[in-house]
Amino acid sequence: MAKAPEPSTIDWANLGFNYMDLPYRFIAHYADGKWDDGELTEDATLHISEGSTGLHYGQADFEGLKAYRTKDGEINLFRPDQNAARMHKSCERLLMPAFPEDKFIAAVKSVVKANADYVPPYGTGGTLYLRPLMIGVGGNIGVHPAQEYIFTVFAMPVGAYYKGGVTPTNFTTSYYDRAAPHGTGQSKVGGNYGGSLLPGDEAHKAGYSDVIYLDPATHKKIEEAGSANFFGVTKDNEFVTPKSDSILPSITKYSLLYLAEHNLGMTPVQGDVFIDDLDRFTEAGAMGTAAVIAPIGGIEYHDKLHVFYSETEVGPVTQKLYDTLTGIQFGDVEAPEGWIQ
Ligand code: COI
Repeated sequence: MAKAPEPSTIDWANLGFNYMDLPYRFIAHYADGKWDDGELTEDATLHISEGSTGLHYGQADFEGLKAYRTKDGEINLFRPDQNAARMHKSCERLLMPAFPEDKFIAAVKSVVKANADYVPPYGTGGTLYLRPLMIGVGGNIGVHPAQEYIFTVFAMPVGAYYKGGVTPTNFTTSYYDRAAPHGTGQSKVGGNYGGSLLPGDEAHKAGYSDVIYLDPATHKKIEEAGSANFFGVTKDNEFVTPKSDSILPSITKYSLLYLAEHNLGMTPVQGDVFIDDLDRFTEAGAMGTAAVIAPIGGIEYHDKLHVFYSETEVGPVTQKLYDTLTGIQFGDVEAPEGWIQ
């Protein structure tokens, strides 16, 4: 695997969202009913049994969070406690032993510090993306939870997830469902994403950024975009996002529900978003750690493109939400208590 380039040679403003093998990652092992302390390692390859449940039966969950370089050259983490708590829940859903939440945060910090040269400079828009990952390992073949696990945190500098960044792109709806009612949609587990590869590929080939999935029970309501949650803005100054048991509880979403209300004076609404009632929105976007806030130009549904604000210009409310959220993350706007470490 090619090692990451020297930091001095990286074009920080044009990173995209690509894997890089940085100098250090954290790895911990679970065996005999307990986690070891874990350590930083330079080895980017996992050495696991062919019988690992993470390979066969999807006993794998993960997280995504970012480290941000501030104007003063310090490094911020945004709400890592929320990622630790969400991973705990994902582990419960897959019968995996959660890595203790305080140790999760310490592991993330150790990886950021060890790779600090790869946290992009302030003002480039780049961030250090952290990927905590847990998989069931060891020799298994029955459909049972593994006896052994690996927890790792690796990192890489990233830019925009969707090509447009904060310029709108179009999304499409899909025949395929992302997750079943009462399934694993609320958990950040590998299987949800494996199932999204084919619909995502079809969408890309048709010229769309991503798929907006509809609710699996009725196919009438917007759920989420697989790699990000959905929001819409109404003329009544509401910030609306779908409420559903089969979507991922995005930390960016909960942060924006708060900021829309407290910083922008909007009314936060979590409820049904019907695909044939998109006229209610003056602006729309996708939100998530990787996506940040990606304005949605239009959504294709039954061969018709519904355009929200514009296919080329970001709407004023979306821009304000983006500036407020990223301002907090990069340390330029005062953060609600406990959001920045
Ligand atoms: C994230 O936003 O961090 C995600 O995990 C979404 C996607 C890149 C899988």
